[in-house]
Amino acid sequence: MCPGGRPIIALPSTAKKGTISRITATLTEGAGVVTSRGDVRFVVTEYGIADLLGKSIRERAMALISIAHPKFRDELLESAKERHYVFQGTHVPQGRYPREIERQVFSKTKESFFLRPLKPSDESKIQDFFYGVSDQTVNQRFMAILKSLPYERLQDFIDVDYESNLALVLEHVEKSLEPEIVAVAQYFRDPASNFAEVAFMVDDKWQRQGLGAQLFAVLVDVAMAHGIRGFTAEVHFENRGMMHLFQHSGLEVTSFLEGGVNQLKMKFRDERL
Ligand SMILES: CC(C)(COP(=O)(O)OP(=O)(O)OC[C@H]1O[C@@H](n2cnc3c(N)ncnc32)[C@H](O)[C@@H]1OP(=O)(O)O)[C@@H](O)C(=O)NCCC(=O)NCCS
Repeated sequence: MCPGGRPIIALPSTAKKGTISRITATLTEGAGVVTSRGDVRFVVTEYGIADLLGKSIRERAMALISIAHPKFRDELLESAKERHYVFQGTHVPQGRYPREIERQVFSKTKESFFLRPLKPSDESKIQDFFYGVSDQTVNQRFMAILKSLPYERLQDFIDVDYESNLALVLEHVEKSLEPEIVAVAQYFRDPASNFAEVAFMVDDKWQRQGLGAQLFAVLVDVAMAHGIRGFTAEVHFENRGMMHLFQHSGLEVTSFLEGGVNQLKMKFRDERL
């Protein structure tokens, strides 16, 4: 039972020696139900925890699929699409949620934030975050004027496998409110070079509070642990904040300017050693 009195359901993701998924799109006729869906807040498998509270049906479907055994996720997603629980363009959640990355971090003003990997069920939180930052921050992040976040672009945030593609979020809890996302830091590995491109967006209200630098340090640790050689980034030549963060990160930064954009490369270690 969780603190709010709602049951937690903990179950292995599969049954019958791994041949069937315990997470299913529908119940079979006559299946026993111990508690109603509305009563359950957390569902836990060996692939993570799905928090269903306050989520839309699409987010609940994605949260549950992302903790199903990976070999069943394709068919679960197809079933969810057939039932119109999720959009046709939705991608299959990949990997295991790396809970060990979760931690508390602090701003320079000693405000507390929760740093965690992004989950496929974070869609609406990401949308709220995107529409809450200034046009300038969006322009700096995407190097384009984006007035909305189309579904395909949203997928770029959500589509993580926690190894080659990772997104970290920072959540801030205002008293008595739902935690809200106030920063996202991502890397996307290029299989050809084994370098990953990094991108950041910190809510205007929390910029210059040391949060971007802390997110970057965690991204570096995770990327190194997965054998990635280093990071690349494209930074507008006027973006002093982003350049400063990289240049003071402790990594060696090489760059060249092309069409007003700094093309950066940051190798993690000297590969000749
Ligand atoms: C760029 C960005 C990610 C930096 O994150 P942040 O949380 O504000 O950065 P931090 O507070 O961790 O700052 C790291 C360092 O950069 C410096 N810095 C940050 N913003 C700066 C600015 N605008 N001008 C000069 N220095 C700046 C900080 O003083 C700090 O230096 P210090 O460690 O020597 O004190 C954030 O400002 C942002 O989201 N900007 C809009 C989106 C964007 O530009 N994305 C980058 C596209 S890849």
